[in-house]
Amino acid sequence: MAEFRLGRHSAHFADHWERVERYGVYLAAHSGADVELVRLFAIIHDSQRRYEGPDPEHGPRAAHFVQHLDWPLDPQRRQALMLACHDHEFGKTSSDTTIGACWDADRLDLDRVGITTDLDRMSTEMGRKLALCRPLDRQQKANSVS
Ligand SMILES: [Fe+2]
Ligand SMILES: [Fe+2]
Repeated sequence: MAEFRLGRHSAHFADHWERVERYGVYLAAHSGADVELVRLFAIIHDSQRRYEGPDPEHGPRAAHFVQHLDWPLDPQRRQALMLACHDHEFGKTSSDTTIGACWDADRLDLDRVGITTDLDRMSTEMGRKLALCRPLDRQQKANSVS
């Protein structure tokens, strides 16, 4: 995405988006989450990062980006995507199926930066199950669903 400022070696660049998408689609296949929103979340949620390290405003900036995104979304779905982006790094859980899938998918890729996923911060049962798998096994499972 042209919006991304941190370069191709960033831990928050496209290979991360791709894994978040794979995890999100896998979770959606088990929960009925909105797959299109999960996919949009994957490519947008970190797109507004300005710093590789702590950047607590990158979620709110991503939500602002979604607000003005030229993509056909009804107001309710746009609102859900904005919330998913806005709060994705604030350590919350969600009972909303789609927002929960988005946040879990992002947290399942924390091992890329040496962080073990905190089970108490997972929103979905399947997310918790995947978090207990070794990263390569988890990725393999996620890649089995298209
Ligand atoms: Fe993020
Ligand atoms: Fe992320």
